[in-house]
Amino acid sequence: MVLYFTGTGNSRFVAQNIADIIGDKAVSISGFITKEEKPVFIANEVYVFVAPCYVSSTAKAMVDFIMRSDFPKGIRAYFVITSASYMGASAETNKRLCLKKGFEYMGTAEVYMPQNYIVYFDMKSEEENRSIVNDAIPVIKRFAGLIKDNKPFLPNKCHFGEYLATNLACRLFYPLFMKTGKFKATEKCISCRKCLDLCPLNNISFNDGKPVWGNKCTHCMACINLCPVSAIEYGKNTAGKTRYKGPLS
Ligand SMILES: Cc1cc2nc3c(=O)[nH]c(=O)nc-3n(C[C@H](O)[C@H](O)[C@H](O)COP(=O)(O)O)c2cc1C
Repeated sequence: MVLYFTGTGNSRFVAQNIADIIGDKAVSISGFITKEEKPVFIANEVYVFVAPCYVSSTAKAMVDFIMRSDFPKGIRAYFVITSASYMGASAETNKRLCLKKGFEYMGTAEVYMPQNYIVYFDMKSEEENRSIVNDAIPVIKRFAGLIKDNKPFLPNKCHFGEYLATNLACRLFYPLFMKTGKFKATEKCISCRKCLDLCPLNNISFNDGKPVWGNKCTHCMACINLCPVSAIEYGKNTAGKTRYKGPLS
């Protein structure tokens, strides 16, 4: 089974492509997270976890999901991390996660996909993003081939110091910077409620026809990038910036 977490669709794109090649299904973990159910998984299966890199490590939503789920011991676990340029300590995080959960760690692969963190970066043009996605396709195929053949991914280099520094950065960044207070819907908002459906953590509600953000946000950037009329802003950080519309745009 290919389990994925996504904000703007990069990781879903990668997960779906892998699932098609290995003849398996791609399942979003969003439903499991929002329902807070403990899903039941089957032994002797190969699991492929696909998630974005956040703050140089595997997105916390995926790590937390794996930690609280009852996977059978000894399952083979592959990790595929989508990043804009650098997945940092993700492999080390995943390896340690497998140790804790009793999984057989089959490795971590990195797939470069378009940047989506519009709060802190400028988004590339549609053309540039299309070229990044096109370049990713053969890479995804190669990794899927290894999974199909039951072969491990090549080991990644990550120094213990980098893992520790990343861990500390995540502990600070998530609570200090992944806040929702600066999200707001402008007068362009057409009350279509798409942001509600897009939020993988079910963290948006509606009040007076406008979205209101709760406090479970993981800054996945789905609402702000994929709003059909670009009516969502994050303070002054995002004013006038091009939105990233996902890998199929
Ligand atoms: C909160 C946040 C943190 C990010 N941190 C990193 C990072 O440390 N390194 C990196 O290369 N890309 C980083 N990115 C970019 C994403 O990893 C990348 O665009 C990813 O493919 C998005 O996947 P998605 O569309 O499935 O959500 C970050 C994006 C967000 C929203």
